[in-house]
Amino acid sequence: MRTVNDERHNFTVFSGVYSPSEDTYLLLDAIDIRPDDAFLEVGCGAGLITLNAAVKTHSVMGIDSSLEAARNTLENLRRNDLYKNCHVIESDLLGALAPTVKFSLIVFNPPYLPQDDEYTGLDHALIGGQTGKELTLRFVRQAVGHLASKGRMFLVVSSLSDLDSIREAMTECGLSVDVVSERSLFFEKIQVLRGILQEDHKETVL
Ligand SMILES: C[S@@+](CC[C@H](N)C(=O)[O-])C[C@H]1O[C@@H](n2cnc3c(N)ncnc32)[C@H](O)[C@@H]1O
Repeated sequence: MRTVNDERHNFTVFSGVYSPSEDTYLLLDAIDIRPDDAFLEVGCGAGLITLNAAVKTHSVMGIDSSLEAARNTLENLRRNDLYKNCHVIESDLLGALAPTVKFSLIVFNPPYLPQDDEYTGLDHALIGGQTGKELTLRFVRQAVGHLASKGRMFLVVSSLSDLDSIREAMTECGLSVDVVSERSLFFEKIQVLRGILQEDHKETVL
């Protein structure tokens, strides 16, 4: 367990859980959380983004497929007395949610690296599938079915993945897509994509 410097919060990261990094902060700065938002973070990790959402809106959910990450988010919410209106669950993407559950804002900083032969102990937080984009594509198709009318989705993508096919999938699902933020790192460029659900898109993709 280690403590991360966050001026506003008492924040800890459990061992084996992804520590907030450049991509976390890029996403955090890009999202516009409104007081009436029903907010969902998929892949909440240690919970920095979920925690910040809990300060701004009263309806907050965090999901992670790692039980340790879900526990870490809950612990950080508890330490900061922010857990009352928050739910944290262990789930593979949004699979544990009833189809009728809707959010106005869904965010995900996904694992997006391609599969390789080395196991790091953090693969669950880093590897997005054989080519890196598989989990992101599965997320987009599931999450759009849980977006309220005109709901927003914010998603971190990397130049190491196939950006065009991710944007294309978002558009096919009825989202209008913009790049709202980007940053060049040592060996890749990361972007935050925002997708807004168009009102006239009737199809629900699960
Ligand atoms: C890159 S980390 C981001 C963590 C945190 N949101 C942040 O920005 O610091 C990706 C997170 O997604 C979680 N994750 C991976 N596959 C998942 C899945 N199928 N469903 C839900 N969460 C998943 C990982 O356990 C990890 O906590």
